[in-house]
Amino acid sequence: MKLLVYHTPERTPQDSLPDCAVVIDVLRATTTIATALNAGAEAVQAFSDIDILMQESEKWLPDKRLRAGERGGEKVPGFDLGNSPLDCVPQMVVGKRLFLTTTNGTRALQRVELAPTVITASQINRQAVVDYLLQKQPETVWLVGSGWQGTYSVEDTACAGAIADSIIEQGKLSLEAIAGNDEVIGAYSLYAQWQNDLLDMFKKCSHGQRLLGLDCHEDLEYCAQTDIIDVLPIQKEPGVLVIEH
Ligand code: MLT
Repeated sequence: MKLLVYHTPERTPQDSLPDCAVVIDVLRATTTIATALNAGAEAVQAFSDIDILMQESEKWLPDKRLRAGERGGEKVPGFDLGNSPLDCVPQMVVGKRLFLTTTNGTRALQRVELAPTVITASQINRQAVVDYLLQKQPETVWLVGSGWQGTYSVEDTACAGAIADSIIEQGKLSLEAIAGNDEVIGAYSLYAQWQNDLLDMFKKCSHGQRLLGLDCHEDLEYCAQTDIIDVLPIQKEPGVLVIEH
């Protein structure tokens, strides 16, 4: 298994796809996806375009759907939910499909949606992702950070490093054995630096600052926790994520 880290979807090669793509948007889309599925949502269907989300969700009965998402971190007007994982409680989501659009995470999903396997990772479900990769041993794995409008987001790369760190430890592998590009070494080193203080990193980084400005302190605290949810979101058809059993 070779891991390749890409800081943003724009950095991924345009002419190829990996055996397994791991999409990462720690703040907050992939944390929200894992939380919603863990709380009993039937599926999460991701859209980068709000108009297409409206058309598709219209085909579902109102009591079976939730429209969720943000632009610039703020809830899309008229939607049921924003993009806070803390809103994804069982009373709200059980048995419903979340139609989700976000500024960056859903774009990253779209970039790799044709890969044979697409899963999502965040700090809260890191171990479930590592277990899956160690068990399935895909030959090439892309760890794709969502970034912010084409630029790098440090928290996504730190999560990629957390995945690499755990694969090295549990798979008894060396960094050079799994690193398919130098970004893996960078991500691994970044995680080593911040692993005991992820919340502090989130408070310093640009999207963390943006979310603090929107009063989302509790979201940052929640997203900074490691391995608290044993759920693996996996794509069953382009854009539609369910729990892998
Ligand atoms: C995104 O996709 O850009 C993020 O999830 C934004 C957010 O924090 O809501």
